[in-house]
Amino acid sequence: MKYLSELGVSSSSELHRLEKEQEDAIIKKMKAVEDASIRQLASITGISKSVIDKDNQIDWEVVLMEFEFIYKRHSVRQFKEEQVPEATIKELIKAATYAPSGNNQQNWHFVVVTDKNKIAEIAQLVVEKNAELSTYLRTEAKIKAFKGKVGYHTVFKGAPALILAYAGPYETIADMLVADGMPQAEAMQYAKSNPGIQNVAAALENLHLAAASIGYGTCWMTGPTYAAQEISAYIGFNKQGYHLAAITPLGIPLSDKRSSPPRKPVEDVLTIIG
Ligand SMILES: Cc1cc2nc3c(=O)[nH]c(=O)nc-3n(C[C@H](O)[C@H](O)[C@H](O)COP(=O)(O)O)c2cc1C
Repeated sequence: MKYLSELGVSSSSELHRLEKEQEDAIIKKMKAVEDASIRQLASITGISKSVIDKDNQIDWEVVLMEFEFIYKRHSVRQFKEEQVPEATIKELIKAATYAPSGNNQQNWHFVVVTDKNKIAEIAQLVVEKNAELSTYLRTEAKIKAFKGKVGYHTVFKGAPALILAYAGPYETIADMLVADGMPQAEAMQYAKSNPGIQNVAAALENLHLAAASIGYGTCWMTGPTYAAQEISAYIGFNKQGYHLAAITPLGIPLSDKRSSPPRKPVEDVLTIIG
């Protein structure tokens, strides 16, 4: 009895009632968090919770728990100044290398620049190359459009780290056919799937998802690769047969608010042949 009075209750049944109330409050809170997450996901995916019937509720839980790392990635183009620790960079690149690759060829190489002056200089190289290439364009509309893209091609300039993804050689049947005499134009039809680049893209997607899952921002960028030669010469990277496939800034996102442009409805991009 003394024990119950220390707890501020007069009987064991009152104690049980209070415990039950506390338990109910915790369950209620957990449910509210879960519902909020479902609503958030519904707004991201454009699917309303109301279309999901009770029996399908389990699908939402699976989606939330298992796919969250996909939906939380967004292109990030502005960053805080904090440096990215080298150990973090290494772990992200390791995650990238766990992507699948044709014949397990792993024909990728990553170069990471963390000096902000060098990153700014790389952006400047892109600006200069943009100006140079625009002189080859023949219509005002094309020149304006290309020059107007230079900002989109240099969004990495304020990031604390820049990752350059290089693609190495990957021999396909098309290469073998050309080597044995098939005209290049004819052999090209067998090269369209470009597995060598698919390998690097798979690694890059791993990298982007891994970074987002630990709170970092990235932005997949191929725009600046028209300055690939200048960039590679500037950083002094020259690995036989490797070319710059894409780059991404890496850093803590400047804003907590992140979003992505809408996606095409699944029905528009999916054909199921039963
Ligand atoms: C192959 C590829 C190239 C891209 N190049 C650029 C680029 O040069 N500059 C840029 O700001 N974003 C670039 N992006 C990012 C896209 O604009 C972005 O992924 C798309 O608008 C969807 O937005 P989300 O990434 O936030 O989902 C590129 C994305 C991919 C996959």
